[in-house]
Amino acid sequence: MPRQLFVTTALPYANGNFHIGHIMEYIQADIWVRHQRMLGNAVDFCGADDTHGAPIMIAAEKAGVTPQQFVANIAAGRKQYLDGFHINFDNWHSTDGPENHELARQIYRDLRDNKDGSLIESRTIEQFFDPDKGMFLPDRFIKGECPKCHAKDQYGDNCEQCGAVYAPTDLIKPYSALSGAKPELRNSVHFFFKLSDPRCVEFLQQWTQDGKLQPEVANKIKEWFTVRTNPDGSTSEGLGDWDISRDAPYFGIEIPDAPGKYFYVWLDAPIGYLASLKNLLGQRGQDYDAYMANPELEQYHFIGKDIVTFHTLFWPATLHFSGRKTPDNIFVHGFLTVNNGEKMSKSRGTGLDPLKYLSLGMNPEWLRYYLAAKLSSRNEDIDFNADDFMARVNSDLIGKYINIASRAAGFITKRFEGKLGEVTEDGAALLHQLRSEVGTIEQFYESREYAKALRETMQLADKVNAYVDANKPWDLAKKPDQEGRLQDVCTVCIKAFRILTCYLKPVLPALATQVEAFLNIEPLNYANIVQPMATGHVIGTYQHLMQRVDIKQLDALFEAPEPIEAAQETAHPGGEAIAPTIGIDDFARIDLRIAKIVDCQAVAGSSKLLQLTLDVGELDEAGQPRLRNVFSGIASSYSPEQLVGKLTVMVANLAPRKMKFGISEGMVLAASHADEKAQPGIYVLEPFPGAQPGMRVH
Ligand code: MSP
Ligand code: ZN
Repeated sequence: MPRQLFVTTALPYANGNFHIGHIMEYIQADIWVRHQRMLGNAVDFCGADDTHGAPIMIAAEKAGVTPQQFVANIAAGRKQYLDGFHINFDNWHSTDGPENHELARQIYRDLRDNKDGSLIESRTIEQFFDPDKGMFLPDRFIKGECPKCHAKDQYGDNCEQCGAVYAPTDLIKPYSALSGAKPELRNSVHFFFKLSDPRCVEFLQQWTQDGKLQPEVANKIKEWFTVRTNPDGSTSEGLGDWDISRDAPYFGIEIPDAPGKYFYVWLDAPIGYLASLKNLLGQRGQDYDAYMANPELEQYHFIGKDIVTFHTLFWPATLHFSGRKTPDNIFVHGFLTVNNGEKMSKSRGTGLDPLKYLSLGMNPEWLRYYLAAKLSSRNEDIDFNADDFMARVNSDLIGKYINIASRAAGFITKRFEGKLGEVTEDGAALLHQLRSEVGTIEQFYESREYAKALRETMQLADKVNAYVDANKPWDLAKKPDQEGRLQDVCTVCIKAFRILTCYLKPVLPALATQVEAFLNIEPLNYANIVQPMATGHVIGTYQHLMQRVDIKQLDALFEAPEPIEAAQETAHPGGEAIAPTIGIDDFARIDLRIAKIVDCQAVAGSSKLLQLTLDVGELDEAGQPRLRNVFSGIASSYSPEQLVGKLTVMVANLAPRKMKFGISEGMVLAASHADEKAQPGIYVLEPFPGAQPGMRVH
């Protein structure tokens, strides 16, 4: 029985274009959807723009357009990204569409009128109001002096200087970030979703802990049932009620029977999943209620780890207590960073702009392959690394897989008019082995273990290449009496290539389509790989299927927009702009210590590195001084003798790093210009006299 699946990705805020993190999420979901379709399952894959909320309303006002116009402009830019990366949504809709207005209002009424007792409660709260703008201010739009450290211009929820967390009403001399006006405290009636209701708590504890969620996600959620941090930093027990209303003016959906009150954006955003589905079904003339009433329907949401609360607490509760079906699972992924989150100004460290990637003629399926090769079912972060990207695509995808076809197809076309021959005996065993992995590969895709699926496939490709190397078709081609064997060996390769293509098809759909055309076969799926191409089957002419990544493309992709001119030195001191502001907590995570350089050696085989032995005042179990080994790229500016005996500053809690010459257990601090070629010179930091090894640097 084919399964019926409804699949979504998180709905992106309609206040900007897609970035590479969005694209990663869509690729992850798209691979899963394609896999399901290859199994013969029916899937409706829906996305939409998340359009509502104060920030979008304010951005539209700044741009001088209505919020509707603003989000329409963003929506118009979506297609080129989705098509460009072969992301095959069945529908892309908007949370401002009529379906969402209607569904959100109906769901709210159902929660309010729940027959076992209403889940909605109204309460009067005190909030800052901007008298100039005539609106209540969200916390992010109130600024003032930190009540703790007295830093100026801090946000209404926490201080970026000292890290204090407080309520906007605690700010000294608060002002509106929108108008500069002094905000007034006013009363307003808000609507709350009673998450603290025992029915809710019981339901959610069951729903989140019944084993469907990823273990790391379920564990994190457990904490929310016990401890909760309030805006003022104090903690309370259990789930808090959820404020789901905002006052006009607000770009959103009006609350039934409450003029001037709107749903908070996070109430209507996930309902947008259903709205997009309803819109899709409407286009097809299908009935939404009947579709949702199907007890076999499975519903899955792919999301990032930053929005788990909304999807595992608020969303299932909203659905359940309004009498609706809850999701079958929430698939949570980690964050994507680019080149280790390296800074913008380094030659290769800017973010990865998806449109620039496409405009450089880079193959979208390289990116799909590379990301898939890093994705697992866990929600750990993954990094796009330019060198790693090039290596994986060129040596695995092209070197191992594409190569099989390019090595065999030419002979079949040129020598045998494209006709396949018989299968050799050892070839039959090889093909049997390849086919017998289908269940394993399917299972890896099903459980979102894409890295494992690809690793397995590449191991099979290795076996095929070993077969080619053992049978040497290029040698056979030189021997007239080996014609038959040449045809059979190449036939095995082509058949193997067909199976591998099937295994890669969820990740590389366009390439698979090309291969299907070239091999002259029906669209591949897991079931039809057991029906091999017959002897005498005629394949098409081999045309190169995929280019290798060219390093020049990567250089261009990460090239800084414009070279930094001397005149810009003021905006870019030392050759680079000051990094984005961080809080004191971020800084406190870096443990800087005074270190004594007890020894220093040149490194044989490296002109850049010096090997330092550092004492940061640590002792081992035996009470002996424990010394650290650190490799530092400062050999161009210092000889070992200049450094021995000196004090410096090191990052003492940096994860040890394996380098070519050994393990480096930290990093010493040194200054340099961003453009080391134009302005060479590296300057190691040295503390004022009196500092002792082991002292912390604050
Ligand atoms: N609008 C909300 C979601 C509402 S869902 C009913 C939102 N939008 S978002 O644009 O900020 O993020 C959309 C998705 O992109 C989220 O799943 C988020 O986790 C994901 N990502 C944002 N940055 C990301 C990375 N750097 N890496 C991977 N995914 C990232 O949240
Ligand atoms: Zn402060």
